[in-house]
Amino acid sequence: MGPALDSTATRYGVIGDGHMALHMGCYFESLAVPYRRWSRRLEHDASLSLGTAVGPCQIVLVLINDVAIEPFITSHPELAEKTLVHFSGSLTTPHAQSMHPLSTFAGELYSLSTYATIPFVCEEGPHTFDEIFPELPNPHYTIAQELRPLYHSLAVLAGNCTTVLWSKLFDTFEERLALPRNIAVPYLKQVALNLELAPTNAATGPLVRGDRQTVDANIAALEGDPFQAVYRAFVEAVAPHDATSRP
Ligand SMILES: NC(=O)c1ccc[n+]([C@@H]2O[C@H](COP(=O)([O-])OP(=O)(O)OC[C@H]3O[C@@H](n4cnc5c(N)ncnc54)[C@H](OP(=O)(O)O)[C@@H]3O)[C@@H](O)[C@H]2O)c1
Repeated sequence: MGPALDSTATRYGVIGDGHMALHMGCYFESLAVPYRRWSRRLEHDASLSLGTAVGPCQIVLVLINDVAIEPFITSHPELAEKTLVHFSGSLTTPHAQSMHPLSTFAGELYSLSTYATIPFVCEEGPHTFDEIFPELPNPHYTIAQELRPLYHSLAVLAGNCTTVLWSKLFDTFEERLALPRNIAVPYLKQVALNLELAPTNAATGPLVRGDRQTVDANIAALEGDPFQAVYRAFVEAVAPHDATSRP
């Protein structure tokens, strides 16, 4: 068990100045929750040391690259007495508990109402979400340790990989087809809306219709493009019996 948390004294330290740290800071500010932020950019200034910055904070959110989290914690004894939380969906470490916000945080900050709807999926550990974040109204869930890799791979496949696909469409419309990139935005919104309204009935197109001729033509049109292999992989995954001729 970690140290008991006194909710009246809870104050947060946030480490990092990347996307996640800036969004979390914005969320705290929207709720008037006090916090202190530190990043390694301040390292050169002794008056802004990590120990000074997070000294009063009982809970420290380590919002830096997954691979850096464990080495950062173990090389900073100032954090030894803190309750440490990270937001990585895949990392497991005895030094900090994972509470993963299931969303995407890029350059634009969000409204309070958007932040408040984002679910947190937590690993089993010494603290509950409510103990760490009594001020946050977010829905939250805890999953078994052994299911976290599957959970995170699904989140990456669905969220991050489709973002790459849509970015490719926007870029190629503009660069090769001389079409305005934003004409595809209503299509993107309808895909998301259909998935929300009728998740089991949202898929359309040649893959689900079993229209092999069109699928073959689509794959041929991507000759020389690395995404041809991605399309083929989708055919294999969605309708293996319809898999088209291989190279
Ligand atoms: N962005 C998302 O959509 C999202 C969603 C859910 C969870 N998360 C999680 O949030 C965490 C942060 O991700 P992010 O998207 O904010 O990444 P990011 O935008 O790339 O920012 C990474 C931050 O980590 C710092 N950093 C990297 N190596 C460091 C080190 N060795 N010591 C100290 N600081 C170091 C960077 O500092 P410099 O600027 O000095 O390099 C930067 O402040 C990750 O655990 C990620 O899995 C992110």
